[in-house]
Amino acid sequence: MKVLLATQKPFAAAAVAEIRKVVEDGGHSLVLLEKYAGQSDLVAAVADVEAMIIRSDKVTAEVLDAAKNLRIVVRAGAGYDNVDLAAATAHGVVVMNTPGQNSNAVAELAIALMIFMARNQFTPATGTEIQGKTLGIQAFGNVGRLVGKKAEALGMKVMAIDPFLPDEKIIEGGAEPAGSLEALYSSCDYVSVHIPATPETIGSIGYDLIAKMPKGATLVNTARKEVIDEAGLEKALEERQDLKYVTDVAPDNLAVLKEKFGLRVFATPKKMGAQSAEANVNAGIAAARQICAYFAEGCTRFQVNK
Ligand code: 3PG
Repeated sequence: MKVLLATQKPFAAAAVAEIRKVVEDGGHSLVLLEKYAGQSDLVAAVADVEAMIIRSDKVTAEVLDAAKNLRIVVRAGAGYDNVDLAAATAHGVVVMNTPGQNSNAVAELAIALMIFMARNQFTPATGTEIQGKTLGIQAFGNVGRLVGKKAEALGMKVMAIDPFLPDEKIIEGGAEPAGSLEALYSSCDYVSVHIPATPETIGSIGYDLIAKMPKGATLVNTARKEVIDEAGLEKALEERQDLKYVTDVAPDNLAVLKEKFGLRVFATPKKMGAQSAEANVNAGIAAARQICAYFAEGCTRFQVNK
């Protein structure tokens, strides 16, 4: 079978080599489409492939229509909001993710961003320490739990909320259940967001929640830009000169936020949470293995469009 590795933001060369080895050991061939200029390149590249490995690359209905032989897409990563699941299902294409494989990289970045903001973006202005502060984790999944553990080791008090987890599971994971989203935002000096972008979560973090945060608080977003109501964020930052926003996924209104709020806002130039050598290898190999297992045994573990 022909497996396309389509990554607009490429994996490290060592990860690509490992992916190739897994694919070829499974009796398949790997074709690469890296740093491509636009969707039309992706549409052209899928014409004769049976499988795809992607990152945040957009697998739209147009891509699926063009991929006549396609049987499986594996998103090497956690969030699969970049895949049109309904269209994939309609085409009989299996979609999977590789949960947990890049979580540590994202969790480390969330901690780094907190310290970066606490120290005024590494300018000489007197900053603050994160030790002794309270961190609220919104969604206690693979990334959220790791952020909590690391924050606790750094001396933070950790609270969490997750609509899909009972309080016992949050306690087992080492955090104090916040009880409600409102309680999380109103009692935490830092809130780290780890929710996926779904119809329910898009635009769900806005003025009402952000304005509840305590004095000097920072909102940390290593999830998806879409979950933030940008107008609400701007209003809260406008009214509250003490609040800060740091993100790995630049908002559409970044230029305005930077101009209005200066060092109180920071966005990484390009989404980099999962961009570590280790995460590239882990997620890439997992994706390649899942494709091989699907073709060899029909294994559908991690399928997200069942
Ligand atoms: C994920 O959902 O796994 C992360 O957001 C990583 O995305 P990326 O592979 O595009 O860096």
